Amino acid sequence: MSDIQNILLEFSRKFNKDLEACFPLSQGAEKRVIDAMKYSVMNGGKRLRPYLLCACAELFGVEYETAFPAAASIEMLHSYSLIHDDLPAMDNDDLRRGKPTCHKQFDEATAILAGDGLLTYAFGFLADSLIIKPEVRLTLIQLLADASGAFGGMVSGQTLDIYASETGNKADDEAIISRLEEMKTGRLLRYACEAGAVLGMASLEERNIIISYARKIGQAFQIADDILDREGNQEIVGKTLHKDDTQSKFTFVSYYGIGKAREKAKNLVDSAVNEIGYFKEKSENLQKLARYIIDRDH
Ligand code: IPE
Ligand code: IPE
Ligand code: MG
Ligand code: MG
Ligand code: MG
Repeated sequence: MSDIQNILLEFSRKFNKDLEACFPLSQGAEKRVIDAMKYSVMNGGKRLRPYLLCACAELFGVEYETAFPAAASIEMLHSYSLIHDDLPAMDNDDLRRGKPTCHKQFDEATAILAGDGLLTYAFGFLADSLIIKPEVRLTLIQLLADASGAFGGMVSGQTLDIYASETGNKADDEAIISRLEEMKTGRLLRYACEAGAVLGMASLEERNIIISYARKIGQAFQIADDILDREGNQEIVGKTLHKDDTQSKFTFVSYYGIGKAREKAKNLVDSAVNEIGYFKEKSENLQKLARYIIDRDH
């Protein structure tokens, strides 16, 4: 296992324990939705977004305990996006993180509600986190709303993902794919990194470097996801593969083919590593993470 995989694993062990503690014990019949929320959020996952958030905050000396609420919140929001992404009306997937998807394990209504619950709790949990100064908290809430919402955020990207192949025309396919991937995946990854910079009171220059790093690894990350869909090992990836082709998704892989898509991802990562090198040895793990994003097997 590579150095960065070990670092991620160690981070996940601590993070998972702390994340689980964010869910109060619940009783009564409504407990079902909380069980479904916990099932999905605690169900494995690489924890890349919380790791990125904490690692970017650490560049500025912010401790894990201070960054944790924002890290937990982005993982809750990400998990909601996965529950809804898997629903029959969207990608119609049975397998997520190596286990039955939320609507398979529970039922469709519970999965919709569990997604709603996680989305709402992501914002509520962040808003309630007194360890983060009020003005910083407000900025994070605004950024998270922008990144996840319907005005150029994740919801817009998911909309394009579902409908682009019906409305696309060859002449601007590349631009559509680029926008689609930037919004559906890039925005949340960018938020994770930017939130670290905000927590660290980064200067404008530092923040822009982090944003640029995030945009590049975000695009490379989705290309890697699309390559894994085509060429991965289902046991290891933990998702049903070959869905993008059967559902005629617009991806860089479908547009360029695997070889060119891989080359594009590699160039993006090289450039991201170079850029984050601005922070010298403090950025070592972020450099390794960027490389891992395209070398990963799940
Ligand atoms: C999967 O994200 C969804 C995409 C944005 C492509 P991850 O690959 O980070 O999923 P988990 O959290 O590790 O399961
Ligand atoms: C999902 O993209 C992106 C979001 C959930 C926002 P994909 O549909 O490619 O993700 P997987 O492959 O199902 O994880
Ligand atoms: Mg999808
Ligand atoms: Mg999907
Ligand atoms: Mg995918």
